[in-house]
Amino acid sequence: MIQLLQEATDFIRQQTNHFQPDFGVVLGTGLGALVNDIEVQHSLNYADIPHFPVSTVESHSGKLIFGKLGGRNVVVMQGRFHFYEGYNMEQVVFPIRVMKLLGIQKLFVSNAAGGLNPEFNTSELMVITDHINLLPTNPLIGKNVDELGPRFPDMSEPYNEHLISQALDIAARHQLPVKSGVYVSVPGPMLETKAEYRYLSNIGADAVGMSTVPEVIAAVHMGLPVFAVSVITDMCVPGKIKKVVLLDILEAAAKAEPNMTLLIKELIKRQ
Ligand code: HPA
Repeated sequence: MIQLLQEATDFIRQQTNHFQPDFGVVLGTGLGALVNDIEVQHSLNYADIPHFPVSTVESHSGKLIFGKLGGRNVVVMQGRFHFYEGYNMEQVVFPIRVMKLLGIQKLFVSNAAGGLNPEFNTSELMVITDHINLLPTNPLIGKNVDELGPRFPDMSEPYNEHLISQALDIAARHQLPVKSGVYVSVPGPMLETKAEYRYLSNIGADAVGMSTVPEVIAAVHMGLPVFAVSVITDMCVPGKIKKVVLLDILEAAAKAEPNMTLLIKELIKRQ
C-alpha cells in the first residue's frame, strides 16, 4: 500500500511543481464553495491521479485543489469518498494518507450532518469534539502499515483541543452560530428511522452523518492534529423530523457554507 501512496504522491508533486501544502482540507456535501476563497495554483481531477478512487456522487465534484487560503498553502479535497458508495476503507482514506505524505501538518474536515441534540438548529455549525464509530469497519483493520503509524493508536483526543478552542474563540468573535458536540458515523446511504435517531441520541451523539470518522482515524494514526466541523442540515429530534431529501440538505449546507468557510479560513490563518 505504501508504494501506491508513494506513486500517487510523486505524481501530484510532479504535476504541481512541487507545491508544498501546510494544511489539508476536506470539503463535505454542499460545502464546495470554500474553493472560491482559495487563490488556486493547481487543480487535479481525482480521475487523473494514479490509484485515487473516483467519486460517484453528483454533489461531489472530485478534485484536489492546491493554493492559498488565509495566506497559507493548502491542499483541498473537493469531494470525498464514502463507505456507502462501495469503496473499502483503504480507498476512503487513500487521499488523507496522500495529503500526509505531501507534508500537511494539520487536517481540517467538514461534513453535512443530521442534528440529534434538541438545542441545535438547521444550518448551524457543530465543532466536533469527539466521535462514535458505528461503521462496520475502519481503515486500520488488517496488517498495520508501520511507516504510517502505530498498531494501536491512542484515541483519547482525536480532535485537537487547541484547534477546538481556537475555533470556538473565532466563532464568538464573529458571532457565528456554532455549537459543539459528538459526531456519530453510520454507513448509510439511507437516512435513519425515528427509532435509530432516538438510539443515536441515547448513546451520546449530537449529530449523525456518513463520513469523517474513517478519515479522522487514518489522520490520528499518522499523528496529524485534526479539526472537524459539521453543518447541521436537518433536525432529527422528535417533533422536528421531516422527510429528508438531498435538495434540502444541499440548501441547508449552502446557507451555512459562508460561516463554515469563514471559520476554517480564520482558523488556518491562526496556525
Ligand atoms: N443522517 C445521516 N447523515 C446525514 C443526515 C442525517 O440525518 N443529514 C445529513 N447527513
